[in-house]
Amino acid sequence: MVNWQKFTKFLDFGILMYRLLMEPLGLFKVNKEIPDLKEPTGPIPSPSKITINAAKIEAEIDPLIYGSFIEVVGRCIYGGIWDEYNQNVPLIHGGLREDVLQEVRNLKVTIIRWPGGCFSDVYHFKNGIGPRESRKKEKNDHWHWYGPKIGPEHDNHFGSDEYMLFLREVGAQPFININFGTGTPEEAAQWVEYMNGDTSTEYGALRAQNGHPEPYNVKIWGIGNEIYGHWEPGHMNAEQYAYRFLEFAKAMRAVDPSIKLVAVGADFDYPEWNKTVLKIAGDEIDYLSHHVYIPGKVAATLSNSMKHFYNIIAGAFEMERRIQWVETSIADVMKHKQIPISFDEWNAMWNIRQHYEGYYTLRDGLFAASVFEMLHRHANTVKLATQAQLVNVIPMIVTSDTDVYHNPIYLAFQLFSTYAERFLVSYSVTCDTHLNPKYGNITETEIPYLGCSVTINEAKDKLVIIGINRHHAHDLPTTISISNFDPDSTAQIFELNGPHHSAYNFFDKKDEVRIQKKEFTEASTQFTYTFPAHSVTAIILHKTK
Ligand code: AHR
Repeated sequence: MVNWQKFTKFLDFGILMYRLLMEPLGLFKVNKEIPDLKEPTGPIPSPSKITINAAKIEAEIDPLIYGSFIEVVGRCIYGGIWDEYNQNVPLIHGGLREDVLQEVRNLKVTIIRWPGGCFSDVYHFKNGIGPRESRKKEKNDHWHWYGPKIGPEHDNHFGSDEYMLFLREVGAQPFININFGTGTPEEAAQWVEYMNGDTSTEYGALRAQNGHPEPYNVKIWGIGNEIYGHWEPGHMNAEQYAYRFLEFAKAMRAVDPSIKLVAVGADFDYPEWNKTVLKIAGDEIDYLSHHVYIPGKVAATLSNSMKHFYNIIAGAFEMERRIQWVETSIADVMKHKQIPISFDEWNAMWNIRQHYEGYYTLRDGLFAASVFEMLHRHANTVKLATQAQLVNVIPMIVTSDTDVYHNPIYLAFQLFSTYAERFLVSYSVTCDTHLNPKYGNITETEIPYLGCSVTINEAKDKLVIIGINRHHAHDLPTTISISNFDPDSTAQIFELNGPHHSAYNFFDKKDEVRIQKKEFTEASTQFTYTFPAHSVTAIILHKTK
């Protein structure tokens, strides 16, 4: 009998294009390496203004928005995080790369989703537990279609216990996506028992036998990944998904009623999906998942032009449009219960090769900062977000056999996860804008040159202004007026920037784009600060004594 799902996957346009044309013929690079910097700088924008009322709290930001994601694809886990056969770098626990752990610790990532992505819908957790030497070697049941660079074989040595070791090393919380595609509710329930059951249970005892007697107490569990898409193992319609979700929820909650469940959600590309899923299964759903990759292309080469600079930055506004749509779709159905959004895959991706090659530039860092600015604006509805992905695959951290570096997306993430405070206060921004035409899945967008987030700590004695200057060439002098907070004149400044808008890091220039510490001594309830061209700046103000 013909297996239609496998057959349609074989015919998938992106896979065919990559396997037959791009990879063999070397067509389409990820980026053009030589910066095209002779672009006109354009007219000087008018001065900007930020007006802040520090006493008015708009939202509490959930720290779980500073999350990331790791998948068994390319060299994200095997050959990135877990590099057991590499003798050139220090390893701990039999395979975790110390240099990568240090990078992840410095990022202050709060939660890490695993094992996929698409891969989660073909992964059987039992193949990844017990003595490593007896675990079986497998082809990558989802990604092998793309060939060995994207879907290499793996030996299952990074399983549930290694994932938890990794999380403990970096201080992040788990988020497991179970196998909905080729798995069963029983298997998912057994996985919950393996992670959370005490030693009197069958799978809890097995975990103890494997050297981990204490339950891991994994709280957040995703049921399936992008099931609405033809590419996903287990693809089905919304109604079928919702009823099957309920079977999984029942089986998993029978083992541990305290777990929180993330259901597959979609946006206006699949306009009926959320409504149908929520009507049938809403009462059992704790988070509704949402994924967005901009500009949604699979074989583009980006130049370092001003055009692509604004094209990519506009992507953060496209994400906001989609999140707004998801918010409405939830509110329309769930009258009696608020279901938050888990924005559990987001990034800029324009070329399949970014699964194993390529670098992100300062432009992409400004895009990522604009995503965090947007997530702060939506802090009342987006309670969890995991950037895709952490290492080597559309990454923030890149490894070679001997070395590691981080890119501007990492730095933007780090600036927000490190310096932004918990409570978003009321503020408004006045500035000039840039009109960006439609590009890929990004609709025409009016981009404000100045992005901004203003947060305050619980004690209300530290106010943090993060300003994003999205102009490719001009500085933005800005008047900042603050009410209900009297700042000390000395502020700490942390500025993410590089020599030009398309600067990027690599193994031989790890700090071309970096965060620099500066001092500023003219803060008051009304002061002027000039945000340098193409930068992200955290201004940390302390209340006068
Ligand atoms: O490239 C990462 C993949 O993109 C994830 O596995 C999937 O969820 C998404 O389509």
